[in-house]
Amino acid sequence: MKFLVMNGVNLARTGRRERGVYGEETLDAIEEEIGAFVRAHGHEVDFFRSDLEGELCAKLGQTDGVYDGIVLNAGAYTHYSYAIRDAIAGIGVPVVEVHMSNVCAREEFRKKSVLTEVCRGEVLGFGKKSYLLALEGFWL
Ligand code: DQA
Repeated sequence: MKFLVMNGVNLARTGRRERGVYGEETLDAIEEEIGAFVRAHGHEVDFFRSDLEGELCAKLGQTDGVYDGIVLNAGAYTHYSYAIRDAIAGIGVPVVEVHMSNVCAREEFRKKSVLTEVCRGEVLGFGKKSYLLALEGFWL
């Protein structure tokens, strides 16, 4: 299977911002670990990251027929981006929503995701392992 792991706004600064919440490891290091994990299970993975909502939508729109599954951490866009929601709803590739932190145990505005309803599933609260668990969901 071939997967796409997408990271949205502010995620590129993982390891440098709010380390107590998102950990000390950089996104480069996390992506390296994800890549090794996916390949060890005999699958392929690409990565895409952008701070820009429109770029995330455009990328989602290019995934039909290319990927078997997408793991998406949209960052704060999760809570209000109807554009990303529509982009997910408009493709045939299943998307799993991912969060490193337990968004349900944080500020009130983080408890609402406008993406979950159009996603195949959701994994949150396991730090970088949230990505691995979400990917595993596709082949277990
Ligand atoms: C996040 C949670 C979001 O609420 C936040 O805006 C992020 C990261 C997470 O991975 O826990 O940027 O998606």
